Amino acid sequence: MASMNASQSTVDVSVIGLGRVGLPLALSFADRGLRVVGVDNDPARLGAVREGRMPFQETGAQELLDRVHASGRLSLSERVADAAQARHIVITLGTPSFSHIEIDMRDIRSALDDLLGVLAPGHSLILRSTIAPGTTEFVAGYLTKHRGFAIGEDVFVAHAPERIAAGRFLEEIDTLPCIIGGVGARSGEVVAELFAAFGAQIAQTTPVQAELAKIWANILRYTHFALPNLLMMDCERYAANVFEVIDLINRDYPRGGIAQPGFTAGTCLRKDFAFSEERSVAPGMLLAVSRVNESVPLFLVEGIKRRLGTLANRKVAVLGLTFKADTDDERDSLAHKLIRLLERELADVAVHDPHVPTPTPTLEQALDGAEVVVVAADHAEFRDPRALAVIAERSSGDCLVVDPWNCWGAAQVFAYASELITLGATNA
Ligand SMILES: NC(=O)c1ccc[n+]([C@@H]2O[C@H](COP(=O)([O-])OP(=O)(O)OC[C@H]3O[C@@H](n4cnc5c(N)ncnc54)[C@H](O)[C@@H]3O)[C@@H](O)[C@H]2O)c1
Repeated sequence: MASMNASQSTVDVSVIGLGRVGLPLALSFADRGLRVVGVDNDPARLGAVREGRMPFQETGAQELLDRVHASGRLSLSERVADAAQARHIVITLGTPSFSHIEIDMRDIRSALDDLLGVLAPGHSLILRSTIAPGTTEFVAGYLTKHRGFAIGEDVFVAHAPERIAAGRFLEEIDTLPCIIGGVGARSGEVVAELFAAFGAQIAQTTPVQAELAKIWANILRYTHFALPNLLMMDCERYAANVFEVIDLINRDYPRGGIAQPGFTAGTCLRKDFAFSEERSVAPGMLLAVSRVNESVPLFLVEGIKRRLGTLANRKVAVLGLTFKADTDDERDSLAHKLIRLLERELADVAVHDPHVPTPTPTLEQALDGAEVVVVAADHAEFRDPRALAVIAERSSGDCLVVDPWNCWGAAQVFAYASELITLGATNA
């Protein structure tokens, strides 16, 4: 495809990677009246969007897709080079971490190589993916090295990190301040023209400060949850009750504020710390945070074994497969790690999750005859006291219920179903 001057484009913005971040973003741009090209190399994903079907759950997104479909403002392509039809090109590709703690930029590199030949003066390239410090400058340097562009003068490059939480995209896109770290003289200003479509406050900064702000917001969260998780493990060692200790820390104390324990992972938290850790001056600190959160499933399995002995041939029901409550996103969920660990104990594992796309057995089927029930994701369905009643009714005898989330207010990580019912009623 011959390169054109980007000012001749008939499309306003293209979004490369129609995943959990890219698709709601592309739809939101179209809903604000912009003409959008959405690019993805997964035919199933493109097919779903073409048919007007959201490929995953995101609050309000199906209605938005219906509206955008009717407007005709979103066109789709499987070719990254087609993104150059628009003046603004937003990259929302995945940025995993290699297991040896280093950002995996292969998707971004591959998209850049596909774009190199078609970029032209006037284009802006916006990295919306979460990236390691220095990546935006690398991308700018790559374009200069291979095409000779003066970044910030003829072609524009910026990092505008996505900071929404899954399930809250549409509520937060108009309200969260939009951080823009532009390279060179004018990139920040040019990219701000695009994001002005959402009306949120715009915070201009340098590329590396935008990168640091994004990853450190997630590092803060990851650490925030590691502390109560570590406390939960300490409490087990001292036969103390973690929920009571947390209440003592927080109650009417101006410097309290410790969070509650739980399963802490997901595609962002589980890997974003690596983008600091890979070249940290204090290597190991964030790795330790990760090891704490990653050891919660093992801690629970060991706790079950301490109470019940061997798990071989005993039925364990795992409730919730997603990385957090009330989502259908199973990626990087610790529930799957828990299941693998239980299977390595030769337990008979049954699962139930009302949100995931692959159908699971019903709650009753998963519970029938279970000697242990673990709440791995605290979906609203499980927090309902009726779920506890079903557990007590369907499981085997007085089953052990493992609930690091304190779903029913009984304030016990490990307790028998009968105790939970009594305690839940007392604490209510
Ligand atoms: N999921 C979140 O809640 C969230 C929040 C903030 C930031 N982020 C960051 O945003 C980025 C994207 O995350 P995501 O969860 O949307 O990822 P995702 O895996 O859901 O989406 C990536 C999409 O890109 C497509 N793709 C992969 N390679 C491609 C290629 N070469 N050409 C075209 N399409 C290609 C995939 O098919 C997929 O649809 C990551 O950097 C992530 O860390 C995610």
